[in-house]
Amino acid sequence: MALLAPSILAANFSNLAQQIRLVEMAGADWIHCDIMDGHFVPNLTFGPLIVKAARSSTKLPLDVHLMITNPDNYLEDFAKAGANSIIVHQEAVVHLNRTITRIKELGVKAGVAINPSTPVDVLKEIAESADQILIMSVNPGFGGQKFIQGSIRKIKEAVQLRKALNANFLIEVDGGIDNVTSKPVLEAGCDVFISGSSIFRADNITAAATELLNIIKNR
Ligand code: DX5
Ligand code: ZN
Repeated sequence: MALLAPSILAANFSNLAQQIRLVEMAGADWIHCDIMDGHFVPNLTFGPLIVKAARSSTKLPLDVHLMITNPDNYLEDFAKAGANSIIVHQEAVVHLNRTITRIKELGVKAGVAINPSTPVDVLKEIAESADQILIMSVNPGFGGQKFIQGSIRKIKEAVQLRKALNANFLIEVDGGIDNVTSKPVLEAGCDVFISGSSIFRADNITAAATELLNIIKNR
């Protein structure tokens, strides 16, 4: 069954614990944390300190998405902060096999993300060792952007790749996910729906998460 991972990027950080509780009450499966460094993407967010704060606020798995250059330098910090999965960008890592191995050695699930302009093909040699493949459906860096339609084809390609390799990685889709875009994304075969603004910018956060959960759990 598909999973919902609300992204706290769009949350109100003045009361993070309460914001997480609101999506937890709706039945959210994971909490997604977007780490940005102002180099790999043109925006800055937060680091291990906030991940640690999220960790102390929930028992839900924390899915940590590193949109940073040289992610290898910070893997241990995020693992210690309480990440359950760490996702690095294919475009930001030179020795992807080494990085994935290192993440797993830290006792954390390893994921690889690709930008909208990166073809799924580049994951062919690494996909078998990854626990998660994340398809960016917006250009990383900001919440609230419009879903890029071409991502649907890439989700289908990732499903094909998994089949061809007889692998079992989860397929995550990140960016512009709402009540409308989640439907074709579900049809295409997405396993983990990451959604920020459609949940945390709604008037009723719990109701918005519930509505999205009703769509994605209905395969
Ligand atoms: C974008 C981040 C996303 C973002 C999604 O760079 O990786 O996780 O929070 O936010 P929405 O759902 O607003 O597109
Ligand atoms: Zn993300």
